[in-house]
Amino acid sequence: MSKLNYLLQTVLIFLISRFKSSELSLILHEIFNMANFYPLTVQKIKALTPNSVAITFTIPKDLIQTFNFIAGQYITIKKEIKGKELRRAYSISSTPTCEGITIGVKKVDRGGFSDYAHNKLKVGDVLEVMPPEGRFVYKPTSANKNIIAFAAGSGITPIMSIAKTVLESNPDNNFVLVYGNKSYKETMFYTDLVKLQLEYTNRFHIYFILSQTQEDESIFGRIEASTVNFVLNNKHKNLDFNDYYLCGPEAMIQLVTNNLKEKGITEDKIHFELFTSTEIKDELPEKPDGKTALKVIVDDEEFSLSMDKGSLVLDAVLKENIDAPYSCQGGVCSSCIARVKEGKADMVKNQILTDGEIAEGLILTCQAHPTTPTLTVDYDDV
Ligand code: FES
Repeated sequence: MSKLNYLLQTVLIFLISRFKSSELSLILHEIFNMANFYPLTVQKIKALTPNSVAITFTIPKDLIQTFNFIAGQYITIKKEIKGKELRRAYSISSTPTCEGITIGVKKVDRGGFSDYAHNKLKVGDVLEVMPPEGRFVYKPTSANKNIIAFAAGSGITPIMSIAKTVLESNPDNNFVLVYGNKSYKETMFYTDLVKLQLEYTNRFHIYFILSQTQEDESIFGRIEASTVNFVLNNKHKNLDFNDYYLCGPEAMIQLVTNNLKEKGITEDKIHFELFTSTEIKDELPEKPDGKTALKVIVDDEEFSLSMDKGSLVLDAVLKENIDAPYSCQGGVCSSCIARVKEGKADMVKNQILTDGEIAEGLILTCQAHPTTPTLTVDYDDV
């Protein structure tokens, strides 16, 4: 028997003799799911604006497959800060063909991960990172594509990856970007965008919309219906767009979506990613009373617990130390999707799942309260 096998056998015998089977199941689950996060070394930190940085991670050779991604996806970083485990999702700005993975981090909190990333993180530090995921993606094809994106603030991060991928994947592709910020000084990836424009002069068109300063080569104001009309009906009326990518705060996404729908653009062509993670939890109009017997299936293991109907499914699951997937806990990132196999749950907020997906039984567990005495959710079947 090899030394490693002997060691594993000794650890298992110790665990079996020491813990009850339900506790053992949780411990083993925890051990095997540590693999969901991988240690990645920070290779580079670059200031983008006074309040945002780009962080590049080195991907070791044996993790290249695991960290393969599609343009538009995000990674989740896990970090313990002041004794509390934080998980934050950040979109990837680099392209799948680049070495390493780069994310954009805007400082939004005091004492949270983005504060740590700005003030303490150094080149050479190692962070726990979950492999890329997300459904806001652009999959390159050999067909010629015309793509337009509307981004505001840090919503530019996944659009950087999508824009470069669109432009690189076919010499006839066109990309139009409408990008809103307060000023050039606060425009993330400004220099990279200008360089990209010089590289693809006739195929990459940018409209900088600035709300606080009047500057050259920009439009003063915010992204509004008039901006959408100006770009689509005036500047690019001869381009037939295949897809529309929207990324930024909810109000901007709703405004642009409504405008596009009024123009007859069908929903399947409009892709969006919300970029406002909220700490404030929405509530159901009436909090349901009573308890629910909850069954959770994750990574082929089954767990049973009792929870208050007034609590959120993900909160109850995490309280039991079950390693369910999650990131933002604000109904924004989509990592916590599970399928209801039995029973019923209502979501307090949903801007991610389509009506069809909800009818199929999918829920965002970070937003869902059980409404039946029993509920079974399966994180594996999504
Ligand atoms: S954890 Fe992000 S949507 Fe639920």
